[in-house]
Amino acid sequence: MNLIDGKAIAQKILSELRTEITELRARDFPPGLAVILVGEDPASQAYVRSKDRTCHELGMHSVKFELRASTSQAELLTLIHQLNQDPAIHGILVQSPPPAHIDEATVIQAIDPRKDVDGFHPVNVAKVALGDPSAFVPCTPLGCQRLLVESNVQTAGANVVILGRSMIVGKPLALLLMQKGLGGDATVTVAHSRSRDLPAICRNADILIAAIGRPEFVTADFVREGAVVIDVGINRIADATKQSGSRLVGDVAFAEVAPKCRLITPVPGGVGPMTIAMLMRNTVQACRAFHTVA
Ligand code: GUN
Repeated sequence: MNLIDGKAIAQKILSELRTEITELRARDFPPGLAVILVGEDPASQAYVRSKDRTCHELGMHSVKFELRASTSQAELLTLIHQLNQDPAIHGILVQSPPPAHIDEATVIQAIDPRKDVDGFHPVNVAKVALGDPSAFVPCTPLGCQRLLVESNVQTAGANVVILGRSMIVGKPLALLLMQKGLGGDATVTVAHSRSRDLPAICRNADILIAAIGRPEFVTADFVREGAVVIDVGINRIADATKQSGSRLVGDVAFAEVAPKCRLITPVPGGVGPMTIAMLMRNTVQACRAFHTVA
């Protein structure tokens, strides 16, 4: 089968982290993560709960703040300042996107860069661009790169096309894949909604990464025979045949694209579990740096 089992790879990473966390706890350094959600978006609520649950399963210290949608920016900043000072908290994450009255850039810049386990703070964005190993790398790009490495997909010399230029996925992923070394050395093209002739650009890809947030946008005509396809999209669409009335699909039209691929990630069970595993990894990294544990 040509499926990349993100769930299984994430489980392997989590079980390695569990050992590390046990050792850190034995030294009285339990890694701690604070997750903040403002508002009641159901998808964000599901993500935040899943992050919190994974922390508990790993024996990490976890605090979850679910704040009402009307929470002011000043209140949110006060909470972040408190968490910046809290020695039990090594990682702080504010679920994106926040409600419209909150300026996300201001909020991200209030987070101590040493606790910015999302890798969204300008200090970490710059460190990633510079190739500084102390950077926090955004979790979804890190998860995509790790999926490729764990699946023995050669990135060196490969033509990678990334569909989407977001600060959460497309831009940082481009930087990672063009870095020197394992999981890097790729020839990266970043394409987006304004690119001319997207299918033609994508057909040039040995590795195609879809991160545009449009359900089943990537059809068979975008994909070269034998390509590796990573689907970052998580879109809920109406489906009257389901009891819930909806189902999750990626940015790739899986049924028609999968037969052409050497390897492809499913949705769900592909990139999603890897994002959470990388968040846990980043929090352990933050804890180690805080306590100067090599
Ligand atoms: N929203 C979608 N992906 C992410 C992520 O990786 N981190 C945060 N904080 N919000 C998100």
